[in-house]
Amino acid sequence: MLKGYTRANSSKHMSRNLFPFASRFSAGSSSCSISIVMWSVVGCLLMLHLYSLVSQSDKQNKEINASMRSYPLLLQLEAVEEENIKMPRPRGRSQRAAKRKPRHTTTLIDEFLDDSSPIRHIFFPDMKTAIDPNKDAGNNSLYYYPGKIWLDTEGNSIQAHGGGVLFDERSRTYYWYGEYKDGPTYHAHKRAAARVDIMGVGCYSSKDLWTWKNEGIVLAAEGKNKTHDLHKLNVLERPKVIYNDKTGEYVMWMHIDNANYTKASVGIAVSDSPTGPFDYLYSKRPHGFDSRDMTIFKDNDGVAYIIYSSEDNRDLHISPLTEDYLDVTRVMKRVLVGKHREAPALFKHEGIYYMITSGCTGWAPNKALAHAAKSILGPWETLGNPCIGGNEVVRFTTFFSQSTYVLPFPGLPGLFIFMADRWNPANLRDSRYVWLPLTVGGAANQQPLEYNFGSPLWSRVSIYWHKRWRLPDI
Ligand code: GAL
Repeated sequence: MLKGYTRANSSKHMSRNLFPFASRFSAGSSSCSISIVMWSVVGCLLMLHLYSLVSQSDKQNKEINASMRSYPLLLQLEAVEEENIKMPRPRGRSQRAAKRKPRHTTTLIDEFLDDSSPIRHIFFPDMKTAIDPNKDAGNNSLYYYPGKIWLDTEGNSIQAHGGGVLFDERSRTYYWYGEYKDGPTYHAHKRAAARVDIMGVGCYSSKDLWTWKNEGIVLAAEGKNKTHDLHKLNVLERPKVIYNDKTGEYVMWMHIDNANYTKASVGIAVSDSPTGPFDYLYSKRPHGFDSRDMTIFKDNDGVAYIIYSSEDNRDLHISPLTEDYLDVTRVMKRVLVGKHREAPALFKHEGIYYMITSGCTGWAPNKALAHAAKSILGPWETLGNPCIGGNEVVRFTTFFSQSTYVLPFPGLPGLFIFMADRWNPANLRDSRYVWLPLTVGGAANQQPLEYNFGSPLWSRVSIYWHKRWRLPDI
């Protein structure tokens, strides 16, 4: 019985386990095919979702672009304006001089840098043509004339070089901060770059980005204490201010240096009012590295970053600031490594970060480049020269200027104001402002490496040359 039971049982077992692998296989294959089907469905759904997201954002972009394009003024801003600057007739030289040194071909850049050039008025028009908000009301009102002297509401030329603009939500007012350079230009020693003693940081306020009221020097130089960073014989350049929503403080970052540019540090100052006075806190070398041209950028999530030229201007470094914006965090990324870029001006459009930089040629102008990145900490890709119009030399020299800031124009996504300095090394206080429309849209001008669903991730960044232009009326 027991045996029979055992046999019967065992045969039952046998029949059940006759092909154990096969049964497991068939169960496995059905669960396998079910899971394949399930994953395919999930995959398809995901693809559909992604596709709808992409086409939705494409649709939104097209709608934004279409609404942008519907502004006739914007179309005017994107019109290509050529510039025909005629070289002056070669100036006479004595036979002896000609023998001693054969003449090299003079270029437009040489003429620009020569303060005795007969075509100097083209680059540095005189006071008679100044933009004057008190006199230009009417037909000329709100028009920018890049390179012309720009007067404040008291009739003095604006002193806000290497500057940036803060829009203060609380007072709904724009504040333009920059180097106050209204002093004599000189060279600290024979081979040193032209300089003006530190006077401080100038601040101007405006509601329309054209009429600027002088709010005074909001961070002043130190006259007596020679060991102070702000002692007049040192260097204070490229000040930028952002507002900290958590602490309620206006925080200023700037390039602090000595006359030989070997201190290469950043300085930080704070104020509870946009018009100062700012209290100078301290200077440091961020992450122990030399830091020269710099800017700061506040992202939509409130995190702020510093971007500075470092390692003898070979690379740019980007670092998030601490929550109070008074220091750098330990995170630091090197970007545009070995590219020797400076004068960074960073902005964001539709979730993508863009940056304009210049080459490193001191006060002399050179070719700008536009860069783009998905993450602010990089990698950054170079898009090419954003300058459009003028002529080849004008484009090659960033309209004879150097980037300092890019300001979003409210109400019209994709339109920005490109702010640059036309330095006058012979008389730095007479350096001019070049403000031009910058748009983001259309295909990038250089074959980009990054693609998203077959289309390039970045749009073209274009800065349009105009002798005279104004912002759309919105
Ligand atoms: C430039 C820099 C300016 C200033 C100048 C001095 O390269 O962008 O901010 O430092 O050099 O020569």
